[in-house]
Amino acid sequence: MTHVRGTAIEAVALVKRYGEVTALDGLSFTVPAGTVFGLLGPNGAGKSTTIKILTTLSTPTSGAATVAGIDVLAHPNAVRRAIGVVTQGSGTDRQATGRENLLLAAHIHGMRGRAATARVDELLELFDLTGAAKRLVKAYSGGMQRKLDVAMGLVHRPSVLFLDEPTTGLDPQARSEMWAEIARLATQERLTILLTTHYLEEADHLADHLVIVDRGRLVAQGSPEELKSELRGDAVVVELAPDASVDSARTAVEAMAREVTVTGRTIRARVDNGASAVPAVLAELERAAVAVAAVTVARPALDDVYLRHTGRTFAAASASASGSGSEEVAVA
Ligand SMILES: Nc1ncnc2c1ncn2[C@@H]1O[C@H](COP(=O)(O)OP(=O)(O)OP(=O)(O)O)[C@@H](O)[C@H]1O
Ligand SMILES: [Mg+2]
Repeated sequence: MTHVRGTAIEAVALVKRYGEVTALDGLSFTVPAGTVFGLLGPNGAGKSTTIKILTTLSTPTSGAATVAGIDVLAHPNAVRRAIGVVTQGSGTDRQATGRENLLLAAHIHGMRGRAATARVDELLELFDLTGAAKRLVKAYSGGMQRKLDVAMGLVHRPSVLFLDEPTTGLDPQARSEMWAEIARLATQERLTILLTTHYLEEADHLADHLVIVDRGRLVAQGSPEELKSELRGDAVVVELAPDASVDSARTAVEAMAREVTVTGRTIRARVDNGASAVPAVLAELERAAVAVAAVTVARPALDDVYLRHTGRTFAAASASASGSGSEEVAVA
């Protein structure tokens, strides 16, 4: 596999307008070769739009980009030969077998005969699909289908791989298998991988560098560790009981902690030391006659980075918030 040294992807001041909608509003970033780069953002942030421009499926309103050292606007065909793309929806033919799908992808890339079948067999093996190669894709599990999608993107041995939400809709086990696969591709195959995700955990786990995008703009960038280390102290999350007054609760928490935000019946705040702050916060809430359902103390997570930069929480992440080191304290 060809390995691009130095910079694998460079996006410079990308703007994309669709009529009234500004999907990208001056987005710039650089992806070092051989790394996994995460583009993290909520629905409509502009992630797929960025991928479409970088993979030559769309042109920017203004701005420039190079992929594998090639200008995407000047030489789109050369860029296409250097990259693999796995789109947000699957590109497979569900009425064909996994093997047939891979062979078709090989033929589309101009591979014939033994070269094509050897590459297909190699990919089936690599993605643990050899046993399922002769089954129709419609009978595959979600995880198997997604692995086949990624395998199809790799048929022509690209140096840069784009994955648009590789694990959305997968169950936890299939997701962790895909994570292992992506990490393996990056280290053993020396691929540069740009992936988009809604999952903070996924970006934290996989990305060497990431950018957080919101409404077409870059709001933060760095390694997951760098982004988390911007946040000093612990996050305290208070879930209010159904009949509690949110306004009184906010006032009470504001007296004891900083960076207080409210989402529905959930109050988030930051304190220097979670363990010692919780009793004080609870005492203050009790003084204000606010009933509390639960309190959680957590080490800084990417969720907090997102909240800090956008003023909003990352709702998709809360559904799968394991691994943030949180500790639930039930309150009677
Ligand atoms: N072809 C299009 N025509 C008009 N508007 C579009 C088009 N494609 C995207 N948009 C708009 O551009 C914005 C960014 O869309 P994009 O698909 O890039 O977001 P995303 O970050 O990939 O979101 P998701 O997480 O939901 O996949 C959205 O407001 C979207 O509605
Ligand atoms: Mg998208």
